[in-house]
Amino acid sequence: MTVENEDDLMKLRLIGRIVFETLMLMKKHLKPGISTLELDRIGQQHLEKFGARSAPILMYDFPGHTCISINNEAAHGIPSERKVEPGDVVNIDVSAELGGFFGDTGGTFPVAPVEPRIDYLCQMTKKSLKAAMKVATAGAKINEIGRAIETTAHQAGFTTIKDLGSHGIGRSLHEEPHFIPNFHDLSDKRQLKEGQVITIEPFLSITSESTRTAADGWTLLTEEGNYSAQYEYTMVITRDQPVVLTTLSA
Ligand code: CO
Ligand code: CO
Repeated sequence: MTVENEDDLMKLRLIGRIVFETLMLMKKHLKPGISTLELDRIGQQHLEKFGARSAPILMYDFPGHTCISINNEAAHGIPSERKVEPGDVVNIDVSAELGGFFGDTGGTFPVAPVEPRIDYLCQMTKKSLKAAMKVATAGAKINEIGRAIETTAHQAGFTTIKDLGSHGIGRSLHEEPHFIPNFHDLSDKRQLKEGQVITIEPFLSITSESTRTAADGWTLLTEEGNYSAQYEYTMVITRDQPVVLTTLSA
């Protein structure tokens, strides 16, 4: 969607703050021994406190309030009895709706002790998100986002996952512009517009460049032994830097 007025912005800020708070709360409880189902319940309760509805359930009938993906699972992991273990690399993605407006945020949180290359992967994924935001101004080509992400990844010796990407959001979880790739797509002629609401969510990987759907029908897996990281913000495009909605200060 495109922000038309203060009221739109206020409602987007509200759901943005709620999903980000939920993510931070779940991160706080992420410790060895907790099951991903318990984590999901913590998220569910926080969303419900504000009357927000889980977007994965609302839109896709997903079997969980949030997506929790561990190690070689890149995204859309289903909360389960699986207990978090030391050394796990856990991605939590929270998206929800309130009053007809959607927010979407995510992050990858390694559970100590982790190898230095995992910390580096996370650092570089955050760096690629920053680099992408820097070029995401009104009038810029949408493929500049993928170019910034891909360049950062390759300089660090990592790959990007090509079948996952960022997206328009606002009155629905996924809307125009659909699928903003994690790589420089020269054939993509679309431009960013002032007031447009999008996510930027780079996926960087040690080796994998694509995912496949697990037998559960939801979880997106990379290769065995691979790790990936994702950080996601929902933001409004302006002529200057994007305004981040998924933050505690929104
Ligand atoms: Co998300
Ligand atoms: Co998203």
